[in-house]
Amino acid sequence: MVDTRSQLPWEELLELHVLRKLTSIIHAKWSLGIGFVTADGQVVQPPRGGSIARTQGLCQVIQERPAGETGCISTALQASSLLAGQKDQAELRKGPIAYTCHAGLQELAMPVVLDGRYMGCLIAGGFFLAKDADEALGEVDRQVGALALPAGDYQEARQCHPRLLPHDVGYLKELLQHCVDEIVAFHAETTSRSQAPGELQRELGTRYSYDALIGRSAPMQEIYRLLDKVIDTDSTVLIQGENGTGKELIARAIHYNSPRKNRRFVVQNCSAFNDNLLDSELFGHKRGAFTGAIADKQGLFEVADGGTFFLDEVGDMSPSLQVKLLRVLQEGTFLPVGDTTPRQVDVRIIAATNRDLKRMVDRGEFREDLYYRINVINLVMPPLRERRDDVPVLIDHFLKKHARGRLRMKRLTKGCLDRMLDYRWPGNVRELENEIERLVVLAGDERVIGEEVLSPRIRNFSQSQEAGVLGQPQGLPDAVSALERAMIQDVLKRNQWNKTRAANELKISRRNLIRLVQKYQLESRRPSRPN
Ligand SMILES: Nc1ncnc2c1ncn2[C@@H]1O[C@H](COP(=O)(O)OP(=O)(O)OP(=O)(O)O)[C@@H](O)[C@H]1O
Ligand SMILES: [Mg+2]
Repeated sequence: MVDTRSQLPWEELLELHVLRKLTSIIHAKWSLGIGFVTADGQVVQPPRGGSIARTQGLCQVIQERPAGETGCISTALQASSLLAGQKDQAELRKGPIAYTCHAGLQELAMPVVLDGRYMGCLIAGGFFLAKDADEALGEVDRQVGALALPAGDYQEARQCHPRLLPHDVGYLKELLQHCVDEIVAFHAETTSRSQAPGELQRELGTRYSYDALIGRSAPMQEIYRLLDKVIDTDSTVLIQGENGTGKELIARAIHYNSPRKNRRFVVQNCSAFNDNLLDSELFGHKRGAFTGAIADKQGLFEVADGGTFFLDEVGDMSPSLQVKLLRVLQEGTFLPVGDTTPRQVDVRIIAATNRDLKRMVDRGEFREDLYYRINVINLVMPPLRERRDDVPVLIDHFLKKHARGRLRMKRLTKGCLDRMLDYRWPGNVRELENEIERLVVLAGDERVIGEEVLSPRIRNFSQSQEAGVLGQPQGLPDAVSALERAMIQDVLKRNQWNKTRAANELKISRRNLIRLVQKYQLESRRPSRPN
């Protein structure tokens, strides 16, 4: 019985750079094609080269005849590839097997066994063994004789057909073995963390998606729990967090999951307001209210009526804007410039900032009354370094996002993923996304991205650099934590993540080590092992 979950992405495998190289050597040397037969006997043809059989002139001549003439032989040729799939799996598992196809040509099948499971075999075929060539050709002649093939074409193809000497067959086996080794290595790399996140998320059944929000770490779960509570309310929300932590994404998630989702989501960057035109921008104006007011204009509050008004960079608001905003929030009404009738709108306010508003209040830089008005529900977006568990999921997400057109879905090697996990991501999710986009573009046609393509700052980032915080003025507790984390990770790596040995080396108890591994989220960086 075939385990369908264990099917390999055969077409993708043939696109691997190293496999393309190996198969092109095989083709250049003997004009032989490569194909796969899956464990259940399905023939998978190379994506570019057409059928395996067609790579040889003889097969091509036969197959290019109209179906009426060649029907039986084409079917036989197709079926011959299946022979490999029909072989006794126990026999196939032992190593390469040679067999004769229906047209009397030789084929070699090299088994692919992953984690003890037979996955199918790689086949190279359609040659004659030099010593048997004449006899074998006689057999092909007899079969082909039944077809009305142009004598010239057939004779030429017959002449050129590859005849392999014993040492050629030995070399071909070696090359096929290299191909299989590459497949095994590729499998080991891609079934590790780089592939698992999507499935893992589904398996865990955790809430990980408010539309575009990606992340299943504990801090993100906490955010989702809060979102669940606030989306159906009209409460004002203040979102705080470092640059690129997803503040705007969260604001959009709140709006588009709320009952207001069919009305406008208006974004305004508060630092970009021109103080002179402030009133007009926010509240609108009547025609003729001032020079240049040639028509009535709606203010942003009116545009957002029934929807959500997202005040981004609220910490950069000028003092005069702070006063005006407070008035609207308190009174719920406003006057367009030049108008005498107050307007009332139903707008939900979401504000965001990367600044420490409380500290700004303490320093007198932000109005305390406004602070309490907007800080009804407070959401603090965790920086990426505090949710490293999400890095593989985000990588997977961005690889999918940037895979389009020629730039098809790619994977990272385990080494590359490890470097990404080691990095501190000061620029947060935006920096991660930019790096992935860059990798996808630089990788070009390659399907697997290695660490050599990484930006130097990520490739060369080391734990010692992290420990280098000792030299930076960020306080003793942070520096001690960074050093502790770096040491634990180093020792764990050196001991292949064996916690008992690592604890001994670190001279701490195993229980203490487990607690620290959890604290520093080191478990998720452990390289996965074959099952
Ligand atoms: N949890 C997430 N899932 C998916 N993408 C994310 C997530 N968080 C952030 N991003 C992506 O990172 C980028 C930055 O997000 P966003 O603009 O929301 O951050 P921000 O905190 O508002 O940044 P800034 O402080 O620079 O204004 C966007 O491309 C966004 O799609
Ligand atoms: Mg933003």
